Amino acid sequence: MRAKSKTIPVVLAAILLLAVAVVGYVRSGQTQPMPVRILFENNGGKVIFSHLVHHRDYQIECASCHHDKTHPIEAPEDRALACGSCHPNSFDEKFIEDHADSFPNEAYCVRCHHVEYDTVLFDHEAHEDYASDCSDCHHGQDIEPEPQKCSNCHDERGSDELLSMRLAGHQSCGQCHEDMFDKGLSSCKSCHVPKDMTDYKGDYSSCGQCHEAETRELVLPRMNAFHDQCMSCHEEMGAGPYGPDNCKQCHISR
Ligand code: HEC
Ligand code: HEC
Ligand code: HEC
Ligand code: HEC
Ligand code: HEC
Ligand code: HEC
Ligand code: HEC
Ligand code: HEC
Ligand code: HEC
Ligand code: HEC
Repeated sequence: MRAKSKTIPVVLAAILLLAVAVVGYVRSGQTQPMPVRILFENNGGKVIFSHLVHHRDYQIECASCHHDKTHPIEAPEDRALACGSCHPNSFDEKFIEDHADSFPNEAYCVRCHHVEYDTVLFDHEAHEDYASDCSDCHHGQDIEPEPQKCSNCHDERGSDELLSMRLAGHQSCGQCHEDMFDKGLSSCKSCHVPKDMTDYKGDYSSCGQCHEAETRELVLPRMNAFHDQCMSCHEEMGAGPYGPDNCKQCHISR
């Protein structure tokens, strides 16, 4: 008898605790879509990232890590994109084929497809005075029976025999405006009017149309994105693991 009277309160307590746990779990699911902890399985050894602790205890704002300014993440209930949607293992054909479907809507696209060009600033009449002859820019009659639009022959892609419109334009204007190209990307505005990219609908130019750097130098691939973000902050704050000797403070070897 004595044994039984002791068991009942214990069982009751256990049920009560379980109920609290279930309610707590459900409620945390509602109010905190942000993960508490994140386990990364990878070739360097598993990494356990104390996500909530980083935000709550180390007092780091969501946006210092979730840095997509077109979709600011500010409060715990805000949903965030996985870093890998924009920082894949590599920008290969598979990424190019699939990536457009990995974003909730089109507003994300301009984070990478950040500029397209509208009309070229070119005053034809004024240039007739600057040049000695029409043939400074137009071909001779053997190619161009009479002066006409360059795009009648030079198309967007170009071929082995014929320069693309971009290269034909740049080479021709560059005869006199070499200085404008010397300044790199900051100089493009002298001839190109950028389009307004809010609610942009249309084709996207490949990054290489404008950038000489490869895509992975412009947008870091997955491992570099994590290493760079995690470790530069630790180094800056002088807290948390970084540097060549501390791999194992993040990576748990198997
Ligand atoms: C110290 C950096 C850091 C801070 C601060 C931070 N996060 Fe994260 N968060 C991450 C990383 C890293 C991931 C993992 C993403 C992945 O797996 O690609 C992540 C994942 C997430 C995910 C899951 C995304 C998914 O689908 O995989 C959500 C939601 C999220 N964070 C929301 C937030 C919110 C809301 C805040 C602020 C209250 C916040 N985070 C603060 C770094 C951070
Ligand atoms: C919507 C796309 C997108 C998402 C999501 C995203 N990034 Fe980025 N990230 C970029 C782009 C584009 C750049 C190129 C530089 C720039 O424009 O800031 C970049 C640059 C970086 C850089 C280089 C340093 C810097 O800040 O400029 C690091 C590190 C980085 N991202 C880490 C992360 C991590 C970690 C996550 C997840 C917590 C993440 N990124 C989520 C698009 C994204
Ligand atoms: C993380 C950066 C990033 C984001 C965000 C992004 N893209 Fe891309 N996209 C790329 C890269 C890199 C390429 C390859 C371009 C190249 O060839 O230089 C590309 C190529 C493309 C292409 C051309 C594909 C082809 O066959 O040549 C289309 C179309 C495209 N993206 C659509 C989208 C759409 C739609 C979205 C938004 C829903 C989007 N992208 C978001 C980086 C991005
Ligand atoms: C500094 C370079 C330059 C000089 C000099 C020049 N042109 Fe042009 N011209 C161009 C370019 C570039 C285009 C293409 C503009 C376009 O497609 O909008 C063009 C287009 C034209 C067109 C087609 C216009 C149309 O809208 O169909 C004619 C016609 C033409 N030029 C005649 C001349 C004649 C005649 C001369 C000499 C008096 C001359 N151009 C001198 C660069 C030049
Ligand atoms: C009727 C077709 C046609 C038109 C119009 C045309 N091109 Fe070309 N362009 C060619 C061909 C064909 C070549 C290749 C010539 C060669 O290999 O000798 C060429 C070559 C070039 C080259 C390479 C260097 C050179 O001069 O051989 C440049 C630069 C060029 N075009 C610029 C222009 C510009 C700028 C315009 C407009 C003002 C223009 N082209 C209009 C057919 C055309
Ligand atoms: C024969 C030489 C020559 C060629 C070829 C030439 N330009 Fe010019 N351009 C000039 C001169 C000279 C001026 C006036 C002085 C100045 O501003 O540099 C000028 C001025 C300009 C300006 C105004 C610059 C400013 O600071 O406001 C623009 C824009 C421009 N050119 C664009 C072009 C484009 C686009 C092409 C190719 C289609 C081109 N030019 C080809 C000689 C040339
Ligand atoms: C001196 C004037 C001039 C400068 C500077 C210049 N461009 Fe261009 N660009 C042109 C002309 C002319 C064309 C061909 C005209 C056309 O396509 O209608 C062209 C075409 C292009 C195109 C393909 C067509 C388009 O509209 O998208 C791209 C991409 C481009 N330029 C990128 C650049 C970049 C990136 C820079 C800076 C590094 C730059 N240009 C600097 C004159 C210039
Ligand atoms: C039509 C031309 C054009 C295209 C296409 C383009 N960019 Fe850019 N990009 C620029 C110019 C110009 C700048 C520098 C000026 C500025 O801040 O806008 C720049 C700057 C950047 C920067 C900042 C770092 C730097 O090198 O200055 C990143 C990152 C970047 N672009 C990534 C991309 C990626 C990824 C793509 C392809 C998905 C792309 N860009 C396509 C013209 C272009
Ligand atoms: C913006 C700054 C910042 C970023 C980004 C950041 N951390 Fe930290 N991290 C800290 C700080 C501050 C500490 C606190 C160390 C202490 O108090 O001793 C810390 C501590 C840690 C620790 C040891 C203590 C713990 O909480 O586990 C690990 C492991 C760690 N971080 C992993 C990561 C990983 C993995 C990432 C990237 C996904 C990351 N951190 C991104 C600031 C950051
Ligand atoms: C601050 C924590 C942290 C430190 C310190 C750290 N890493 Fe990582 N490492 C990560 C994270 C987070 C990932 C990304 C996991 C993912 O891709 O899901 C990663 C990924 C990797 C990968 C996986 C690449 C792949 O393709 O799967 C390797 C390898 C790696 N790290 C090696 C190292 C080495 C070597 C060191 C020491 C020089 C180191 N890491 C230090 C957090 C860290």
